[in-house]
Amino acid sequence: ALSPPHDRLGRPLRDLRLSVIEACNFRCPYCMPADRVPDDYGFDAASRLSFDEIETLVRGFVRLGVSKLRLTGGEPLLRKGLPQLVERLAAIEGLDDIALTTNGSLLAPQARALRAAGLSRITVSLDALDPQRFREMSGGRGDVAQVLAGIGAAQAAGFASIKLNCVVERGVNDDQVLPLVAHFRGSGHVLRFIEYMDVGTCNGWRRERVVPSSELRDRIAAHWPLQPLDAQYRGEVASRYAFADGQGEIGFVSSVSAPFCGDCHRARVSADGRLYTCLFAAEGHDLRPALAQGGPALIERVAGLWARRGDRYSELRDAVGSPRKHVEMFLIGG
Ligand code: GTP
Ligand code: 5AD
Ligand code: SF4
Ligand code: SF4
Repeated sequence: ALSPPHDRLGRPLRDLRLSVIEACNFRCPYCMPADRVPDDYGFDAASRLSFDEIETLVRGFVRLGVSKLRLTGGEPLLRKGLPQLVERLAAIEGLDDIALTTNGSLLAPQARALRAAGLSRITVSLDALDPQRFREMSGGRGDVAQVLAGIGAAQAAGFASIKLNCVVERGVNDDQVLPLVAHFRGSGHVLRFIEYMDVGTCNGWRRERVVPSSELRDRIAAHWPLQPLDAQYRGEVASRYAFADGQGEIGFVSSVSAPFCGDCHRARVSADGRLYTCLFAAEGHDLRPALAQGGPALIERVAGLWARRGDRYSELRDAVGSPRKHVEMFLIGG
């Protein structure tokens, strides 16, 4: 039997976040700004891992201790045949949870097929409710009504408790926070606010634009009192709060004001088969040569890379300072 690897800081490998496509139909300024990433951006399809390669890869990660998988992009619903891929992955023994992160714009027509294929959970990015503001937040591409319809279709298809991720940027969409809370309170869905991060190299991040979760929490609690909830599992990224009146819960992801690297069990793989051991890694490790040799070679390669991992960027941000090379967020899906 194989002993699951631990990294240099003693952290096991538990979650895999796999990008199935680097392209996106949105151009959110905090991720893929339109003036930096051309409209037709994307690898040629041949440089993406095939479904066979992805299945071998995921089986290998499961052997190394992974039980949670999240499919990401770019926009993963742009990848042709995604439900067929989900069906193959859902059959892997030991993989307990398969989630999807999507911008929701293409979700309505695919929700039922994804559910039938065995997808466990869906997270939709939603940065504004106001149609004009939503359009701006998506780089002029998105229609909020379509995304809300996607969320509705996912619920109708049997996805319960959909998570909604809102990245908050001061002076840009922080006025959308209370309307979003008012809209989703009592809906059964879970809204989470994400601190704007210095990911990638092209989003022009400035610390003044980060709204600390503590500030948002106070603002929300002034309208709807909140009570802290315990984490559901070790290393949970969001801190959770219940509405005191029983109308559900919300979450905050505070990777700038309260980093959580100590419990980071996440590996990320880009659509072209590179392993990134941190969201802020400068370089990925090409897994394709090992993958071409088959499952055992892949397992050995990943175990070796994980054992050498020492990343904890968010804890070092202030010491290191920001200008540094980072992988682009749209290559590893957040
Ligand atoms: P579940 O708890 O399994 O539902 O998912 P999650 O909340 O861990 O994943 P999700 O992708 O929804 O995370 C929300 C956001 O938190 C991401 O889009 C990122 O912006 C941020 N985030 C997630 N993981 C990390 C991480 O490892 N490091 C940092 N700095 N930010 C992260
Ligand atoms: N800061 C925080 N989160 C980001 N995401 C993308 N770019 C950023 C950023 N600069 C996350 C969002 C989005 C997911 C796909 O990636 O949560 O919903
Ligand atoms: Fe696309 Fe998501 Fe990046 Fe927005 S955050 S540009 S939807 S990959
Ligand atoms: Fe993990 Fe890197 Fe995020 Fe820290 S900054 S939690 S090490 S991905």
